[in-house]
Amino acid sequence: MPTELTSAQQTTIPEEEVEFATSASPLHTARLFTWRGELYRAIPEPGLPMWNRLTGTGLLQELIDQKYFVETVATDLKLAEAALVLKHRRIPFLSYPYEWCSAAFKAATIRFLELNIHLASEGLATTDVHPWNIVFEGTTPLFVDYGSFVPLEQIHRADFINQFRSQFWYPLQLMIKGHGRLARTLMQEYSQPIQEDELPGSRYLWRRCWLKLAKRFGHTRLGRGAQRLARLNRFHLQRQPSTETWVSELQRWKRRVERIRLPRQQTFWSHYYAEDFPDHQKPESWSLKQKTVADLLQELKPASVHDLAGNSGWYSLLAQQSEAQVICTDNDDIALNQLFQRQQSNSSITLAYLNIINPVGPHGTIDAHGKRLYTGVDERLKAECVLALGLTHHLVFTEMFDFPFIFGALSQFTQRDLIVEFVSREDEYVKTWWNDSYDWYTLDEFCDVAREFFEVVDVRDSSPAGRYLVVCQQKRNR
Ligand SMILES: C[S@@+](CC[C@H](N)C(=O)[O-])C[C@H]1O[C@@H](n2cnc3c(N)ncnc32)[C@H](O)[C@@H]1O
Repeated sequence: MPTELTSAQQTTIPEEEVEFATSASPLHTARLFTWRGELYRAIPEPGLPMWNRLTGTGLLQELIDQKYFVETVATDLKLAEAALVLKHRRIPFLSYPYEWCSAAFKAATIRFLELNIHLASEGLATTDVHPWNIVFEGTTPLFVDYGSFVPLEQIHRADFINQFRSQFWYPLQLMIKGHGRLARTLMQEYSQPIQEDELPGSRYLWRRCWLKLAKRFGHTRLGRGAQRLARLNRFHLQRQPSTETWVSELQRWKRRVERIRLPRQQTFWSHYYAEDFPDHQKPESWSLKQKTVADLLQELKPASVHDLAGNSGWYSLLAQQSEAQVICTDNDDIALNQLFQRQQSNSSITLAYLNIINPVGPHGTIDAHGKRLYTGVDERLKAECVLALGLTHHLVFTEMFDFPFIFGALSQFTQRDLIVEFVSREDEYVKTWWNDSYDWYTLDEFCDVAREFFEVVDVRDSSPAGRYLVVCQQKRNR
């Protein structure tokens, strides 16, 4: 396992410069903290045998190489009460499980099971059975909680499966039945996972049927038989299975998840790019809008791009070509799934479900620094350049936004530039929505409001006719 050396002399991290991400509860055996913008973990003395076990067998490096676990190195840094300080690589965009599209949620579920199959063969497991320890880098789900690795005999395997149902299987069931919004809302209550009776329909009730029959038929022959079966079932659940049985149980779950068919229903925007998704390698087939955005990305050279309301990501894929770190967000799960599946082989674009009208703010309890436990989406999904294309006229004519609302909503996601499309009254759709009460809806007014938020505002032609790209920039030396 490589060790990152800081200097000839070992550096002691001043405690007052450290910000811990978790409480000091003894249950947190490897506390995560930030120091000088980097992510670390403090391993106390009792955690060293597990470190030696994971590194001695080469297992941790194997997990990192096979992209199960986030890149991690040991350091020679010193922090009070830590016997060892580990450093994790930072993932560019942090999306929470309730923001994953259903294709991503399925991929994360499979990966989690595979990780546990892998760990079981070495006599280990993850003590936490939830998706909050998984972070997406592009389309790759990476497990990030070093503190979750424990010896297999320490976990109660029936509890593990019950938690797995609540935290992975039930949300997935809701998503694939088209109840994605319900799943997302319920998942925000991190500490209260979904229960089986919260699922629509009663297909899971059979799991309790023996107990029910036993109660109903009491001392009759049928009741006694049911009681025996209920006892047997409980005994079976409480028995710790052999490693072999455990691995085949996990493999069975993995096959069940793999068989899941993602939702295919038609949404309002799911076919937006169906017939017009020109080849990124053939600029001659691009529209004026596509060419202009490509030129602008060349000029602005942002290190990161947030393609907001990006649908299935034509512009995200364009930005990826210029080697920017890219996140594509939209409030259409089906459109995001199309992008997820399209870029499985080239997986650097991160995806997240985001409704620009109702972005999820900081939530959860307040920590020792007075901060909410879960940060708002604007803090996690910021980029140097935001693209907001084909969106603002919908916000004006269907969501009753005005221009200050639009720039307020969009500017919170950019660290520097915004490329936003203005669709004028001449456009074929806007023409049918416009009436006299929208006399303020002009390109000049749009640019005037843009200047209240940005220092440089410039206009380029877009396509079809009557559409414009408004390029908003902050001064570079800020
Ligand atoms: C006309 S398409 C534009 C797609 C792409 N940006 C482009 O210009 O080619 C509009 C997109 O906005 C998304 N959208 C609409 N309302 C939204 C909202 N409130 N939050 C996030 N996305 C939204 C739709 O799902 C759709 O994918």
